[in-house]
This record gives sequence, C-alpha cells and structure tokens, in this order.
Amino acid sequence: MTIAATEQISTESTITVAPQSGYTGAEISGVDLSEELSDQVIAEIRQALLKWKVVFFRDQTIGHAEQIAFARRFGKVTPAHPYEENPPEGFPEILPIDSRRYGTQYGRKRTSYDSSWHTDVTALINPPAFSILRADILPPYGGDTAWTNLVAAYENLPAEVRAFADVLDAEHTFENRATQGSARAAVIDGKPLRTFHPVVRVHPETGERALFVSPGFTRKTKTVRNLGPRLSSHLLDALWEEATRTEYTVRFRWAPGSVAFWDNRATAHLAIPDAGHLGYDRVLYRVTIEGDVPRGVDGRLSESLEGEAFLGA
Ligand code: SIN
Repeated sequence: MTIAATEQISTESTITVAPQSGYTGAEISGVDLSEELSDQVIAEIRQALLKWKVVFFRDQTIGHAEQIAFARRFGKVTPAHPYEENPPEGFPEILPIDSRRYGTQYGRKRTSYDSSWHTDVTALINPPAFSILRADILPPYGGDTAWTNLVAAYENLPAEVRAFADVLDAEHTFENRATQGSARAAVIDGKPLRTFHPVVRVHPETGERALFVSPGFTRKTKTVRNLGPRLSSHLLDALWEEATRTEYTVRFRWAPGSVAFWDNRATAHLAIPDAGHLGYDRVLYRVTIEGDVPRGVDGRLSESLEGEAFLGA
C-alpha cells in the first residue's frame, strides 16, 4: 500500500495539503492569502483544519488588514485579547506577540507572552474557536511553536479513564503574572476571568471529544470540581502529561511570512522558549475568531465564575 505525502481534498481542489506528523498539522500550498479566496478554497482550508487541527501557510505577503479579512471568512473576529490595551493603530483585532514588550525572565529575553502549553484564553466562558498567527520578525533559529492534538490525546486514553474524565469540570483562570503594581496588573485584577469547563469537550463541528485541559490556564488553582486539592493536582498533572505526549504534537519552524491557523477547540500550543538566551527579537501577530461556550459529553455547558463572553464582529 502506498500512502501519499499530500492529500487532495476534492478532484477540483486547487490547494495541496501536506500532513506534517502522524496526528497533527498540515502545510497548505497553492493559496495566496492576500487574494480574495473563493468559497470553495475557504471550505477546503476549513476541512483540512478540522482534520489536522493546525494548518500552515508559507511565504505569504500579507499585513494586518489581509490577516483580519482572511480570519473573517471563518467567523466573527474578536478584539485582540481581553487584556490588550495597545493593539496596532487602526487594528483593534491584532494582538502583537512581540518580544520587545516582554522584558526578561531569569536573565533571558522572553520571546512570547507565555512559555507553557495552553489553549488560547480558556479562562473565558467562550474561548476563541480559531487563532491565526502571522510571523514577521524571527530569530535565525529557535523560537518555534508546537501544537498538540487534544482529540488524539483523548481518544488514545483507556476507556475507563475517558469515562472518568468525561464527567469532570476544571477551573480555568487568567493568572496575573504582570509586574505587581504595574498598570497591566491593575487591568487584569480589575477584570478577572474564571470559568469551569468540561475536562472533555465535544467539538461543535466534528463531534469529536477533546481533552480540554492545559497548564496555561488551569495551573493557578489546579481545581477539578468536587475533587480535593491533592487529587485535583495529581489528576491535572496526569492529564496534561497525556495531552502533550510527543506523538500528538507537531513543531513548526517559522520564517517571515509564515502563517499558522489552529483550531483552538482541539489543540493546545507552546511557544518553545529556546531563543531567549540568543537575544534576538521575535514578533508575530495574532487574530482570534469568536468561539462558542464549550459543551461536555452529556451536553452540560461551561459555567462562568467571573467575566463576560468575548464577542467578535
Ligand atoms: C500564542 O500563544 O498565541 C503565541 C504562540 C507563540 O508565540 O509562538
């Protein structure tokens, strides 16, 4: 049997989809994101995205406006971030991920705002459905990003563990790691975000079940509803370990003009913190697309403890 290195979405398809690992990630070629894409091409990209959870485009020559216009083909585009106070002039939807804003940690430059596995803004009652990240300035090496497939992580758990996880909810909190006393710390403290999400989320488009926990937003309280702190902590550690097993991941090497587009309902990602000691700048721009309120396997919805839904236009 021969397995092709690329997939053809349909016989009329003009895009090429090249899977990048066994479970996760595909590189799409034959698409110029600066152009007005046909509904057919958008549908093919969506299909590849739902299957591979993150798709990559290379050598794109787009700016903020084109990135936002492309994102709008997939849903409502949210403001940059619940706590973003300084988006680029005229582009409130753009979140700059800019090492020049983050200073240093342990004597090394911080190359992204977070260096732990996370799914974007899951402290919200409705975390983004999708995120699109475009690379602009990069170190000559290092500073890659990795994604993990939370559906594969769930499906490969033993049935008994899946059944146990299916009924649990975990608390997701936006941890305030801004310098104490800073204006940013005050903004975050003034608008806390805290939500109980099902540990296993049913994907609203594919019906797949995903292990919806990652350290970024659950490590602050390490709380699983109705479990004590010790059991919650052990259980979350075990689930995070399963969610980020190397075999479920893909690692993307950025170049200027690279674009990564991920399904935030089925992945977690990690900005690999291996470039800080090199001292180079790293600048990328992200947009997010409005998401729905997650549902567990029995149909229960996430429950907001603090904060409002984050809506796009
Ligand atoms: C993000 O978490 O959205 C940014 C990832 C990165 O900096 O590579």
